[in-house]
Amino acid sequence: MKVLGVNALFHDPAAAVVVDGVTVAAAEEERFSRRKHGHRPVPFAAWELPEQAARWCLDRAGLEIGDLDAVTYSFDPALARPAESLGLNDPWDHLRQTYAREAPGFLSTALPGLDPGQVRFVAHHAAHAGSAALASPHPDADVLVLDGRGECASHLAGTYAGGRLTVHAAQQLPHSLGLLYEELTEHLGFLRSSDEYKVMALASYGEPRFLDELRGLVRADGAGGFVAGRVDWPSLVKGLEPGEDWTPEHADLAASVQRRLEEVMLDLARWLRDRSQGTRLTLAGGVALNCVANTRLHEESGYDEVWVQPAAGDAGTALGGALHVAAAAGEDLQPMGGADLGREWSDDEIVETLRLAQVPRCLAADGMVAWFQGRSEYGPRALGHRSLLANPGNAANLERLNDVKGREQFRPVAPMVLAGRAAEIFARGPLPSPYMLFVHDVAPDWRERIPAVVHVDGTARVQTVDPVDEPLMAAVLEAFDRLTGLPVLVNTSLNTAGRPMVDDPRDALECFGSAPVSMLAIGPCLVRRPGW
Ligand SMILES: [Fe+2]
Repeated sequence: MKVLGVNALFHDPAAAVVVDGVTVAAAEEERFSRRKHGHRPVPFAAWELPEQAARWCLDRAGLEIGDLDAVTYSFDPALARPAESLGLNDPWDHLRQTYAREAPGFLSTALPGLDPGQVRFVAHHAAHAGSAALASPHPDADVLVLDGRGECASHLAGTYAGGRLTVHAAQQLPHSLGLLYEELTEHLGFLRSSDEYKVMALASYGEPRFLDELRGLVRADGAGGFVAGRVDWPSLVKGLEPGEDWTPEHADLAASVQRRLEEVMLDLARWLRDRSQGTRLTLAGGVALNCVANTRLHEESGYDEVWVQPAAGDAGTALGGALHVAAAAGEDLQPMGGADLGREWSDDEIVETLRLAQVPRCLAADGMVAWFQGRSEYGPRALGHRSLLANPGNAANLERLNDVKGREQFRPVAPMVLAGRAAEIFARGPLPSPYMLFVHDVAPDWRERIPAVVHVDGTARVQTVDPVDEPLMAAVLEAFDRLTGLPVLVNTSLNTAGRPMVDDPRDALECFGSAPVSMLAIGPCLVRRPGW
């Protein structure tokens, strides 16, 4: 069975192709359109379809549009209700519902040859759930979905068994942990539905001294769902304008909401585990990009394993919708092999020289390397395919990278580490951690050795690099280790302020041209700035 999955309506338009149960390709439209997140999550932009991503996915799979058996759309207008009846103040929401209802026609216009009769609406949270359990190594698993909103809900707790989803609980709007976190993001002067990870970073600078107020407003209800009452943000801390400097009070507010989110997520996960008696938990929905909360679930929820879909945000519903429909049709599904489901400009000569000599030497001498190799990543993290690399041994590199990327100085950068060496340096979070979705404690004797990647609270968000899965990146790490004694590199995404990650070679050249980066390692070529 050949299924094209499409996500379009809220955030992060994306497409994916699943053929005979195998995930062949998946990509976000922003990587093609060069507009971060594709479009703003506002109703009047909801028409924008992932046209280029869908065409590319079909090409990659060697399919014509006429070969498809089904096209999924990860929102079911039959489940939607007027915004006012959901308690939402969103006067244009009906536009979304109109666009969703007309999606089959729009898709057949955008992708000529597509039969509108093949489009199947998949409930938004069923699509998220599919992206978690059905893409994971063990598809029979519990699944917890938490996001801003779907048709009428913001949460789903369920169990997949034999490709069928049983829903145990679903929290109805307006209660939403995702919207709560988005509101805080906006209150702190950041871009909502985009910059939530900045709030998580800011939280580690604060003390959760507003926790009591939040515990009164936001709590699990004992029946699998939760209450998220309206928070009067200005009464807690004055809001910030975009770009305005934050104070310790703002960090305290971020810390309080972050802590409360973790507590409620733990309650929800424990309820689900009690209900299902399951041992494996899978997560999706934008809230599941919260590494700190995920790590607490790993440690404290009682599940033996926690697996998080790397494209946990709405982009992942393209894949999850396709998997959900394939599973319902009885297809035997293969777990996704990795997050590298996007475009590549590979070249067999690539591996040989490059970099194995020049790149580690440049990094050891405190140069910064723009790294463009293989297929681009699905999900928001650069995982060694579209990355900016630097030496973690020099504390000043954090500031340099934030300067290059035009980011706030409180933002951390993350380490990548050879998988075989991870356990001696990083503790507490799960290992291996190939998708950078958990935080780990940095061993005390390593904190001074890799200061650029150690967060203020002694943690780091680690990506482990396995030589079997990522031979080229692992070879660079090994060579860097030989030169410096550090099996760790700084890895941040290859983009500049406010722009999506670099995807094609032209983007890479533009980024190299506009940022003070020492080298660009692109395919088999090495572009060097004078002096390097
Ligand atoms: Fe969602």
